[in-house]
Amino acid sequence: MGTVLITGGSEGIGLELAKLYAADGNELILCARDTVKLQEAKHEVQQLWHVRCETISLDLSERNAAKSLYDKVKDRQISTLINNAGIGFTGKSWEIPLEAEETMVRLNDETLMSLTKLFLNDFIERGEGTIVNVASTGAFQPGPYIAGYYASKAFVLNYTKALAEETRGTGVHVCCLCPGPVDTHFYMKSGGRKPRFVMNAEKTARIAYEKIQKGKAVIVPGWINNLVRVLPLSIRIAYVKKTKLKNLNRKTKR
Ligand SMILES: NC(=O)c1ccc[n+]([C@@H]2O[C@H](COP(=O)([O-])OP(=O)(O)OC[C@H]3O[C@@H](n4cnc5c(N)ncnc54)[C@H](OP(=O)(O)O)[C@@H]3O)[C@@H](O)[C@H]2O)c1
Repeated sequence: MGTVLITGGSEGIGLELAKLYAADGNELILCARDTVKLQEAKHEVQQLWHVRCETISLDLSERNAAKSLYDKVKDRQISTLINNAGIGFTGKSWEIPLEAEETMVRLNDETLMSLTKLFLNDFIERGEGTIVNVASTGAFQPGPYIAGYYASKAFVLNYTKALAEETRGTGVHVCCLCPGPVDTHFYMKSGGRKPRFVMNAEKTARIAYEKIQKGKAVIVPGWINNLVRVLPLSIRIAYVKKTKLKNLNRKTKR
């Protein structure tokens, strides 16, 4: 048992992971921006599992956010860091505002890397600890009309896989969670449409949680997502292009 720090822990996949860690008796620190949603998440978790749950409201897309989060919690003996907060944007790349994608890269990549490095130092010194970086199945191929987001997740996947190799034998477990489409508010926020086939966040988290405990390096929840992943690259790119473009055209017609 220990203290689990979850970024983006106020809703969606992060909140479902929080509930599973709490059910096993871990204390929680949930970080996101919206204080109301954080409080709701805290109450939900505590009503279910009576564990200590702290919330930290912070915009993790701001420069130096990783260091200020680390400074707030470094004395709490964090046992698991889950870098889950993330955003994405769909559309023609030249039409997505530059600032939006710069913010996305800071949140999805820069802050994730900084938090990973800050905690990894401590974990290596202690010879224990777990870091879970949340990417996406979008990390496995380029994504036309969601280009920046998929590329940001490819960074997460490759960075995390490399660290998983570096940390082998140190007692520290570093792994990458790559969900396929999940039924959360992510699509509404990203300007996209929710795909027809989505996994619910609770099931995604449950599969992820089991595989994290087993020490897996790359976790892709669901057999369909694992099947799609091994299709030829050209087919996967063409599929993403076709579905995203269809959704864009639907949106502009409305
Ligand atoms: N849903 C999917 O289909 C899917 C598929 C593959 C991968 N993923 C990845 O899974 C992760 C979780 O996604 P989700 O679907 O659970 O999304 P979600 O329901 O939209 O939750 C996102 C969480 O991140 C927090 N967050 C967003 N921007 C933040 C910021 N600037 N600073 C701090 N916290 C921030 C949100 O809280 P606030 O807005 O209050 O800050 C919220 O708690 C993301 O990394 C996403 O890329 C999602």
